Amino acid sequence: MAKIATLKLPESECELPILEGSEGERAIDITKLRAQTGYVTLDNGYMNTGACTSNITFLDGEKGILRYRGIDIAELAEKSNFMEVAYLLLNGNVPNNKELKGFEQKINSFGQTPQALQKMIAAYPRNAHPMGVMSSLISSLSAFYPELLDQDLSVEKREQVSCLVLKQIQVLSAAFYRHSVGKEKIESNAQLDYASDFVHQMFGEVDETVARAIDVLLILHADHEQNCSTSTVRMVGSSKANLFATISAGISALWGPLHGGANQQVVEMLEQIQAAGGGYKKFLEEVKDKSSSTRLMGFGHRVYKNFDPRAKLIKKAADDVLTRLGVQDPLLDIAKGLEEEALKDEYFVSRKLYPNVDFYSGIIYRALGIPTNMFTVMFALGRMPGWIAQWKEMVEDPSMKICRPRQIYTGAQLTSFHRP
Ligand code: SDX
Repeated sequence: MAKIATLKLPESECELPILEGSEGERAIDITKLRAQTGYVTLDNGYMNTGACTSNITFLDGEKGILRYRGIDIAELAEKSNFMEVAYLLLNGNVPNNKELKGFEQKINSFGQTPQALQKMIAAYPRNAHPMGVMSSLISSLSAFYPELLDQDLSVEKREQVSCLVLKQIQVLSAAFYRHSVGKEKIESNAQLDYASDFVHQMFGEVDETVARAIDVLLILHADHEQNCSTSTVRMVGSSKANLFATISAGISALWGPLHGGANQQVVEMLEQIQAAGGGYKKFLEEVKDKSSSTRLMGFGHRVYKNFDPRAKLIKKAADDVLTRLGVQDPLLDIAKGLEEEALKDEYFVSRKLYPNVDFYSGIIYRALGIPTNMFTVMFALGRMPGWIAQWKEMVEDPSMKICRPRQIYTGAQLTSFHRP
């Protein structure tokens, strides 16, 4: 028997169905609220609003749980690799050897960038922020694949465009990096796995430790249910815009410092603390001072009110990678000091502010030789299969509707036009 919620309004009552997810999350289905009552709901920042049902990723913010298709990310980070995880997110099952090989071959078949895009890369200033470049280049791919722009792609073409974007974000980001440091582009090597091929295209040689660290970081960033950039992908994709435009929008949303851009902000924050003598206690006083807009970047999360499970895994990976590479980074000690101090400070404890995915990731990227302004591109590289999986789940849903929220108008009432 479906459970019902009864809403008492000043002038009426209405009954609304209660929906329960496979992990016990419950929602009041308000699909018919306006038709039944004339009311809409208002929810600044969608803090209490579910935009969709999804089978892809489950996270529990109170318990610090994150699973892709039911598998815990710690197990995937330890036992799997990024291409297996990308397949899992896109198709719902861990691929067998034949499926994985076919998937990788299809992705690698898109390793060539159109000549015109390579000229575009050369035309960008070397100090352009790579997120702005990636957003425009991914959208520009639409000019070269008109056959992949149909509003209702076949299953085969959907798979094609997905594999194309998964490959091109890797190739284009490495190609822009090489341009930004004044070096020749390095062509993709299809004999290498995805992470190793990225390292190869970035730096030439492939260090095992570096490639495996990047593989794990890509896995940990691969999806995170309805975060800001994924919701942007769903919003844009719901108008039946093509995948190039949809992903370009996701990249733009991720760029924001409150979202994926935080990993770059964290390292810049740590560098500022270091330059000021390393006094992180003084910095935390500034963060707690309501008159200052300073935030402890890499801390806090809309959903996690406990440790972000990814932050724990990335912190451990940071220790491992820096030790293995013989890198001593004072910023890691400052980050650890900040975390230790914040976790016993009432300001952070009372607001349930813990390290999130962005707090330690930049430390590893630095040790791997990746420049700070590429950190958020690394986030986009990892999140690509998640964005595409969420887009695919939405466009394959026959009940998909264009996303169009309502509002409560608070502006001027009817008035006539008068020139002052
Ligand atoms: C990502 O959603 C996802 O899943 C995102 C993500 C993913 O994988 O896709 O996990 C990736 O975006 C991680 C978050 C990266 N952003 C940062 O690290 C930026 C720093 N963090 C914050 O700006 C903030 O915590 C947010 C944006 C992450 C969440 O903000 P909310 O949920 O809107 O909370 P809020 O801004 O309303 O803060 C609530 C209170 C406020 O204090 P009061 O007004 O109650 O006194 O907590 C304070 C805030 O001032 N607060 C912080 C803080 N974060 C929140 N104070 C100092 N430093 C911080 N980092």
